[in-house]
Amino acid sequence: MAGIYIHIPYCKQQCTYCNFYFRISQKDKVEMLKCIEKEMELRKMYLENKIVKTIYFGGGTPSMLQASEIEKILQNIYQNYLIDENIEITLECNPDDITEEKLYEFKRIGINRLSIGVQSFDNEDLKFMNRSHNATQSKECIQMAKEVGFNNITIDLIYGLPNQTLEKWEKNLNLLFDLDIQHFSPYALTVEKKTTLKHLVDTKKVSLISDEEIVEQFNLLTNKAKEKGFVHYEISNFGKIGFFSNHNTAYWKNKYYLGIGPSAHSFNRISRRWNVKSNKKYIEGILNNANYFETEILGLKQQYNEYIFTSLRTIWGVDSNFVKNNFNAEMHKNMQKTSKKWLKKKYLTENGNILRLTEKGKLMADAIASDFFEV
Ligand SMILES: C[S@@+](CC[C@H](N)C(=O)[O-])C[C@H]1O[C@@H](n2cnc3c(N)ncnc32)[C@H](O)[C@@H]1O
Ligand code: SF4
Repeated sequence: MAGIYIHIPYCKQQCTYCNFYFRISQKDKVEMLKCIEKEMELRKMYLENKIVKTIYFGGGTPSMLQASEIEKILQNIYQNYLIDENIEITLECNPDDITEEKLYEFKRIGINRLSIGVQSFDNEDLKFMNRSHNATQSKECIQMAKEVGFNNITIDLIYGLPNQTLEKWEKNLNLLFDLDIQHFSPYALTVEKKTTLKHLVDTKKVSLISDEEIVEQFNLLTNKAKEKGFVHYEISNFGKIGFFSNHNTAYWKNKYYLGIGPSAHSFNRISRRWNVKSNKKYIEGILNNANYFETEILGLKQQYNEYIFTSLRTIWGVDSNFVKNNFNAEMHKNMQKTSKKWLKKKYLTENGNILRLTEKGKLMADAIASDFFEV
């Protein structure tokens, strides 16, 4: 089982908080799409004999492409890889790119899951985030997607925003639940390097909300989502049964994935590889058979750390038998010692050989995972 991720490196404008890789100019788009297809062909051995169960178009803003351009990439994948008959194909969409006609086209070419970047249903928040859409466009986009027949829709939301009161966050959640969709990903705002947000915070033009307020927003989120029948299956992911993201689940379950396009990452358990974060260098590298990526071979400790970091965040938890069978005796012993400490403080629970975060543990997932790390 494996997944393919395709990074589409274009956006209309830079959102205040975002440091994903993209360019605003699309002058190299035709060449870029050719190179994406070429990379797809060049790297087919990476997933030799593996059945591809998920394809994910992320970015950047994949919905800026024409359906025919996405269709060409899909045809290329179908020609070069083994594809599962129930494949999940996700496309990240920004609401302002969407028309009814475009949605019908996306459906026709095989997209069966839409990930819509709503971020907030509050126009003030959207303005602060420098989003290129408003709340009405988001609601209309979701409604249209449902009418066109998409029955696997997820939206992204961000909480912990400056000036986001608990009431505002609750309003966002109520609007989300009224829309009756299958999945959503609420992310706690992080201040990333080289973003406008970082500059605003550093120059004290904007102040972040307190940790206590973020905890309140998180608790409201988890309680309301539970009431509405969503399963909190990963720290930032909630889905109705049968609608968890297969693509992301594969990441968290240590499955192989192939990343195509500038800045895309690939993983095959023993190594991690990442493509250059530059459209120009990527295109030159592909066209001239030159280097356009870096590779890191993962030692046993790194593989273990990777396993802990990804599985601890999920409902499936960390399996101590897996650690015992796949890593060494000392690592297994260290893991047990560390887990005792967090179990005692009630940040973890233990059910047979499975360790899971408790609700208060979920608020400290990264710190707890790093306490387990082998250095
Ligand atoms: C690849 S990005 C964006 C996809 C798409 N272009 C969009 O804007 O909707 C995926 C998601 O990461 C989240 N995200 C990006 N930067 C973030 C940050 N600094 N803090 C919290 N969430 C962030 C946003 O919710 C975003 O929708
Ligand atoms: S959040 Fe999405 S649209 Fe905004 S800059 Fe990042 S990738 Fe582009």
